[in-house]
Amino acid sequence: MTQLAVQNLNVFYGKVQRLFDVTLPSLQDGDVLGLLGPNAAGKSTLMRTLAGLQHYGGSIVYRGAERRTLSHQQWHAQVAYMPQTPPQESSLLPVELLWSAARALDLALADRELSALIDDLLLRLGLQEFALSPLYSLSGGKRQLVGLALALIRNPHLLLLDEPTSALDLHWRMVVLDLVQERVQRHGGMAIAALHDLDLAARYCTKLVLLDAGKIVAAGSVSDVLTAANLARVFRVEAQVITGYRGHPLVQVLGPVRAG
Ligand SMILES: Nc1ncnc2c1ncn2[C@@H]1O[C@H](COP(=O)(O)OP(=O)(O)O)[C@@H](O)[C@H]1O
Ligand SMILES: [Mg+2]
Repeated sequence: MTQLAVQNLNVFYGKVQRLFDVTLPSLQDGDVLGLLGPNAAGKSTLMRTLAGLQHYGGSIVYRGAERRTLSHQQWHAQVAYMPQTPPQESSLLPVELLWSAARALDLALADRELSALIDDLLLRLGLQEFALSPLYSLSGGKRQLVGLALALIRNPHLLLLDEPTSALDLHWRMVVLDLVQERVQRHGGMAIAALHDLDLAARYCTKLVLLDAGKIVAAGSVSDVLTAANLARVFRVEAQVITGYRGHPLVQVLGPVRAG
C-alpha cells in the first residue's frame, strides 16, 4: 500500500523557482529512496519541503492525508528530519540533547526504558565514549552521528536524511546505513536519503531518483536510474555500471565527459 505519494512539487525561494514538477516514486513500508544529483540540484530543498519547512505547490500525500492539512505536531509525530548541517558546535552534551529530544516527544516510556534506548543508540553509533563530551569538542563526523541519533530517537515512520554520511569514514557510513535499513525493515517505516555516494545508494536503496537543476531526470529502480547515459547527462562523467557484491550495481567512473 502506498504510504507516501509526492506529486508535481514546485518550490520557490522568493521569485526564483528551484523545484519543477518533481514527482517521486510512490513509497511503501520498507522503502529507502535515494536522492541523487550534483550540487545545487535541489536535493536539500526537496528534503526541507518534505520536512515541512518550505511552502510548495503540488501534493505530498502521506497515509491518505495531504501534508498541508496536518498540523505541525501531527506531521512531526511521524516524520524525523536530519538536516545537511550537523548540530552546531556548542557546550551541549550529546546525552543531554538526546534526553531533551526524547522528552519533547512525550514518548510513553519510563525513564529506565528511555535510558536503555539512548544507551543502545549511542553504542550503535560509536558515541558512547563521547556522550558527555560537549559538541564543540567533537569532530564534524561525530556531530553528524549525533544528528542522526537525534532523528532516530524519535523512532519515526518516515525518516528524512540529508547527506547523513557525508562527514563519515567508510566504516561509519556502512554502520549508519545498516542501522537505517534495519529500522525501516523492522518497524515497517520508510526513509528518504540524499546521498553522494552512488555505490552506497545502489546497495541500500530500494528506489532512486536523479535530480538535476530542480527537475527529475530519472526515477525508479536502482538499475533504471544508475545507467551510463544518466550518469553522463547529470554528473558529466563517463562511467560503466558493473555487477558487484551480491549483485549490487557498482559504478566505475572512467573519466569526465570531454567537452565538444
Ligand atoms: N534558502 C535559500 N534561498 C535561496 N536560494 C537557495 C536557498 N537554499 C538553496 N538555494 C538555491 O537552490 C538551489 C538548490 O539548492 P539545494 O537544494 O541546496 O541543492 P543540493 O542540496 O542538491 O546541493 C541552489 O541553486 C541554491 O543556491
Ligand atoms: Mg544539499
